[in-house]
Parts: sequence; C-alpha cells; structure tokens
Amino acid sequence: MAAENNDVMEKVVSLCKRRGFVFPGSEIYGGFVGSFDYGPYGVELANNIKAAWWRAMVQLEPNIVGLDSAIVTHPKVWEASGHVGGFSDPLVECKECNTRSRADHLLEEVGVFADEKMSIEEINQIFDANRDKIKCPKCSKQNFGTVSTFNLLVKTNLGNFKNDWSSDPAYLRGETCQGIYINFKNVLDTTRVKVPFGIAQIGKAFRNEIAPRQYIFRKREFEQMEMQMFVAPETEMELYEIWKQKRLQYYIDLGFKPENLRFHEHENLVFYAKAAFDIEYNFPFGFKELEGVHARGDYDLSQHQKFSGVSMEYTDPYTNDKYIPHVVETSVGLDRTFLAVMSEFYHEDNLGGETRVVLRLPKQLAPIKVAVFPLLKNKPELVAKAEEIFRMLSKEIRAEYDDNSNVGKRYRRQDEIGTPYCVTIDFDTLGENPGLLDTVTVRHRDSGKQERVAISELVSKLK
Ligand code: GAP
Repeated sequence: MAAENNDVMEKVVSLCKRRGFVFPGSEIYGGFVGSFDYGPYGVELANNIKAAWWRAMVQLEPNIVGLDSAIVTHPKVWEASGHVGGFSDPLVECKECNTRSRADHLLEEVGVFADEKMSIEEINQIFDANRDKIKCPKCSKQNFGTVSTFNLLVKTNLGNFKNDWSSDPAYLRGETCQGIYINFKNVLDTTRVKVPFGIAQIGKAFRNEIAPRQYIFRKREFEQMEMQMFVAPETEMELYEIWKQKRLQYYIDLGFKPENLRFHEHENLVFYAKAAFDIEYNFPFGFKELEGVHARGDYDLSQHQKFSGVSMEYTDPYTNDKYIPHVVETSVGLDRTFLAVMSEFYHEDNLGGETRVVLRLPKQLAPIKVAVFPLLKNKPELVAKAEEIFRMLSKEIRAEYDDNSNVGKRYRRQDEIGTPYCVTIDFDTLGENPGLLDTVTVRHRDSGKQERVAISELVSKLK
C-alpha cells in the first residue's frame, strides 16, 4: 500500500538523501538555493528517464529527429523569442523581512487565481484586493510592497570580455526549444524530413526563479525534454489533440496510475498561442504541472525569420504551397518527472512481518537492475563465484556487487533503491547440494519471492 500522501514528500526527500539519489547543491557551503545534485543512483534514474523519453519520442516516432543545441546562443535569439522583453514573474517583497515571493503563488495559497501571463496592473489589482489574507511565508507579517515584474533570463558574459558586460549580455537558455527553432532550416536542409516532422531535444535550462520551492519541482538550473512538431497550419489543432493524448498515455505506459494524472487547460493564453494544456501529476503536495502541451501557431518561426532575416518558409513538395510551419510543442522537466517517479513508486509494505520501504520502479527506470551477493564475504570461494557472476551480468545489464552486512539488510537496501532482482551465490551454487550446482537464488523485489535459476539462464531471465 502506498504511504499516506501528506508524509510521502518528507519520506521521498529523506530516501533521496539517504540512498544517494539527490543531494542539496553546494551542501558543504551551506547549500545554494534552487540547486540540487544527482547522486550515484539519481544520475542512473535520471538517465533512464531521459532514455525512456528519447525512445518514445525519437526512436519510436518515424518523423521525429533529435538535436543537441548549444546552451548559450546569439543573444538575439532571446530578443526574437520575446524572453528579453517579457519572460518575467510577478515579484513582491515583504517590507518587514525583505523576503521576495511570487505574487501569483501567494495569491494561489489563499485560493485566488492569478498567473504570470496577466499584466502587472491586473496582478496588482488582485493582490491589493486580497492583502488582508496574504501573509509573508517567512515572517507571517502582512506588509508587502507593490508587485513588480522580474525577468527570469540568466545573463552571462560568455564571449564578452568587457568589464561592463551586463548591459550587453548573452543568456543561459531559458528553454531548450529555442535551439530547436533556430535549427529548423538546418534539419530540413540536411535530412529527409517533411512537414509534419518533429525535433526533440533534452538539455539544461536556467531561470532566475524568484522562489524555487518544493524540492526539485522548481529549480533555477533544471533540465527539459522538449519536442517541437512543425506542422501545416490547417493540421495544427488535430496534431495538438493527438499529442495531448499521446503524452498522457506515455505516463500510463510507464506505470503511473491514471488517477494520478489529469489535464488542466490554461485559463490565460500568451497572445500567440492557440491552445495550451498541462498534464498535471498528483504530487505529494497536490496536482501540479508536470508537462505542457502547446499549440504555438507560427509565432516562433516567424519571430526568428523577422530577427535573423533568414526565411523560415516551407514549400510543400506535393502541392507547392508555401507557408511558415506552425508548432505543436510537448515540454516536460526531467526533474519534475524524477520527483513524480519517486512519489508514484514509493511504497511501504509488510514483508515477512516487517515494514519495508520499497521503490516499485518499472524495470526500465530502475537505477540498478540486479544486485549480486556472495552469501558470506569471508568465504573466498563464494566471493570468487559471485565476482565472476557479477562480471558476466554487468556486461549485459546495470548490476551492482554488494557484500555489506547480512543478506537481509542487503535486500532492504536494494528494495529502497528499486532494484528488481537480487542474486545470491551460496554453497549450493558451488555444489554442496549437487542437484543445485551452478544455480543461484533470484529474489524478486515486489513479492519477495525467491527461485533457483541456473547461471547459464540468468542473463536471458533477467533481461
Ligand atoms: N518551451 C515551453 C516551456 O518551457 P514551461 O511551461 O515554462 O514551457 C515546460 O516549461 C516544463 O519545464 C514544465 O512543465 C516543467 O516540467 C519544466 N519546468 C519549468 N520550469 C521549471 C523549473 N523552474 N524547475 C523545474 N522544472 C521546470
């Protein structure tokens, strides 16, 4: 049975630290707000999440290709995209303790809807009407200044050697998709794609979030997995509906419970968007955006055409129609997926009269697929055989050798990191019971059941 929702977050955070999934960023210096590091098991899980996304979006989709564009681009990219002028969140400062908060989040906490797409005048009006309800999250006082806009783009002096570079900066990308738009022509001219086709990319993005919060849900340095599908204008809404459903199904196919996922339609659209839905996941702190699916019209390519002077027009090879393709976008954060995965598959159950924590990860996501144990670490003949089996398995699947403490404790540890199988080499493996020579015990994570398997069949069985 899954643990109660209200304490799952605390338990997930504790497990992530205890077992080396996620560490607070720059921890030995007291931490660095909005920054986290993935530890040895975290990086394996993150890589498996990225591989699952890449498989679904690139490998299994005949008309989607991959890309890995630069993080820092020509600064004009961000002028064209509208980020320099308008990529901002509403900021409000507590006059008592100087804590800066997002005004829309403070309003949300008292049940009033506002979002970053509203004009600053609109948000100030709503904020003023609710000042008597809103408290500073740090000092609980109710003495706020006026709401102002704060641009989220992170400036950098990469390639700029002037002392006063900040007036002429480059930017760390605020979203990965701009790298896709500026390579639209390159991909079109060098591959065999025809509209409709997509370009997918996984990579880091940076935002000066005013109030990073909810652990790795909202970070300042994070990773996105984005796909931009370039489509004929008249097919945009049809493909948008298809991608909405495909992306929801993706999570269900991964093993998420359908009741933990839902669509949320944006109430406020940016001026160029035709439609925008979030796929929300039921995080331990409630349903929140996991992924966005957007119909963006021809805004992105038109803007880059205008600012770069390079035509983004597409000529249909069958009809000779010329148009600037419209874009259907799917965009999800790796870190949010990571948190959703940890929350979804965290379980506590009772096995053999003992309560245990078990991460019931789908096999494809598990950081370690099989753990190999010698029954005793002080018996050289057991150790030699276990090492031999570990070497054999690790050539085929991600395996871990573990000889710390007793087998029961090793099982608990592997359950906590979500390892689907544990293989134990014992005296029967060496022929103490001749009928069991060259067999091992395979223990299954979810049921705790054990079976005897011939070493010669191990690889095929575990794969
Ligand atoms: N290209 C569209 C775009 O970037 P977005 O809604 O701003 O849209 C898309 O972001 C996804 O990126 C979100 O659904 C979320 O999963 C992830 N994301 C956005 N900001 C994030 C942050 N500060 N920390 C972690 N993930 C974030």
